[in-house]
Amino acid sequence: MTELVWLVTGCSSGFGEAFVHSILARGDKVIATGRNAESRLAHLKGTGAAILDLDVTSPQEILNSKIQEAIAIYGKIDVLINNAAYGELAFLEEMDQKQWLDQFNTNFFGVTNVTRAILPHFRGRRSGKIAFMSSLYSWKSDPALGPYSISKHAIVGYASTLRDEVSQFNIHPIVFDIGHFRTKVSSPENLHMHITQLADYEPMFNALVQAAAGVDGFQPGDPKKGVDRMIDVLKQEGAAQGRPLPFRMPIGPDALAIVREQCHALLKTCDEWEDVIASTDFEGPKLGAWAEDTKDGGYV
Ligand SMILES: NC(=O)c1ccc[n+]([C@@H]2O[C@H](COP(=O)([O-])OP(=O)(O)OC[C@H]3O[C@@H](n4cnc5c(N)ncnc54)[C@H](OP(=O)(O)O)[C@@H]3O)[C@@H](O)[C@H]2O)c1
Repeated sequence: MTELVWLVTGCSSGFGEAFVHSILARGDKVIATGRNAESRLAHLKGTGAAILDLDVTSPQEILNSKIQEAIAIYGKIDVLINNAAYGELAFLEEMDQKQWLDQFNTNFFGVTNVTRAILPHFRGRRSGKIAFMSSLYSWKSDPALGPYSISKHAIVGYASTLRDEVSQFNIHPIVFDIGHFRTKVSSPENLHMHITQLADYEPMFNALVQAAAGVDGFQPGDPKKGVDRMIDVLKQEGAAQGRPLPFRMPIGPDALAIVREQCHALLKTCDEWEDVIASTDFEGPKLGAWAEDTKDGGYV
């Protein structure tokens, strides 16, 4: 099988680091990227990975030139893993514009700008896979998880539109809705938790702090196993051999349960309320792009 070249963002810890080791173990090449790579990715030197300094919040021109630098290392890139992200935790009432921008600059624009930088290469080659590390929190939320959760919802919308636009070029975006895995995502170092200033929210905040103590370091998911399954899917190997590439899939039993629960709940609403939901069109024949005889039902 042809050797693939992968570019992974955010490789200092967690999934990013696990991707690097697993990709190399499969015999592929990997460009491990991260901010302050000299120090933050020092542990990956000597693994066989190429190392590139890449802060996903850099301006587009810098990202474009970093991606060109990355392409030059092995002459191509086959798979982009949009992995870098962090969690901004705050109650919505207390989130100011700067905090929203901080969260979105990394988790949304960091992803869309890196993707934008690599698209000309993928389009030119008529080939490429782009993985988006979303979360079970793109299916549900919890108090104070709004900023992170909303950034992951946004990524799903982006990936979905991207698929509509670039599948014609044999470029395949895929979203992984990831459950709770034991990485540094919930560590005090990586989680930006804003202490509430509003007395009304204090009981909820204190309960969250207490609950958080039982999360970091205790998550059931093993990042190596998660990464191995995602690589199987992206390479259509192992359990994924012979199966079509999905657009979106949960990773981890907790994510599976949440996705199922949410889908069932929404389908139940659709079924139980169909008479109300579907009773809103003008009378008479459908017009224009919606005309009955229009190809594909006409919706554009
Ligand atoms: N673990 C889970 O339970 C879970 C669940 C759902 C989704 N996810 C997603 O999985 C992905 C990886 O997270 P993780 O769980 O492996 O957490 P992690 O151990 O905290 O890793 C996050 C990585 O993102 C990097 N990063 C943050 N901001 C960056 C920036 N501006 N430029 C470049 N890199 C940056 C961090 O680098 P620094 O060391 O420089 O900060 C770190 O390498 C994220 O997209 C996360 O949302 C994780």
